[in-house]
Amino acid sequence: VQLSQDELKKQAAWKAVEYVKSGMRVGLGTGSTAAFAVARVGELLSNGTLTDIVCVPTSVATQQQAESLGIPLATLDEVPKLDVAIDGADEVDPALNVVKGRGGALLREKMVEMASDSFVCIVDETKLVSGLGGSKLAMPVEIVQFCWKYNLERLRSLEEVAGCEAKLRMDGDAPYVTDNSNYIVDLYFEEPIKDSYAAAKAISALEGVVDHGLFLDMVTTCIIAGSDGVIVKEK
Ligand code: A5P
Repeated sequence: VQLSQDELKKQAAWKAVEYVKSGMRVGLGTGSTAAFAVARVGELLSNGTLTDIVCVPTSVATQQQAESLGIPLATLDEVPKLDVAIDGADEVDPALNVVKGRGGALLREKMVEMASDSFVCIVDETKLVSGLGGSKLAMPVEIVQFCWKYNLERLRSLEEVAGCEAKLRMDGDAPYVTDNSNYIVDLYFEEPIKDSYAAAKAISALEGVVDHGLFLDMVTTCIIAGSDGVIVKEK
């Protein structure tokens, strides 16, 4: 039987929720894959399988989903240390470095996932790439609104991302605005990024850049759902 992409996302998400135990503090990711995990956490809480957990959402959208399911929520101000965070990704390379943020939630995702002892990344097999940037889809950079054109040009001219195309993310006719009231510049690559660590460093060094979608050395477990079943890769 050929499973749909949504069924694969759900399989990965359900597997990840097995890492959540009663009493844990849990980071809840954003996006269509993470939404299956949030739903599963809600289900296990309401049937009494999970008890006494507190979750930190990575976006307003996830917060709203979790609230609708009665999942107890907190912020990093209240719960600065998490046991496990579960989230999707846009690209996963063989070293389990990932690109995130096509859904625009990269900053809160990175803050929450950095605060967690483990980060379980959940993807279907279409997200696997040989090198980051290789999917031809966006690698997002969150920037302040102030002088965004200037910062877009500076991003475009960085040697570490040479040859990329840089575009302000739009939401209809207006710039897309993140949960943190910032803009996003999407970088598009013809070839995978040569040195993601150097690129991450150079992008972060620009004043006005808030964060970027390169999540390097952060994933501790990656759950990949594909036509041949669910694979768990540990870092
Ligand atoms: C949100 O900003 C992203 O980082 C998502 O986690 C990522 O885009 C994966 O989303 P999907 O699970 O919807 O593909």
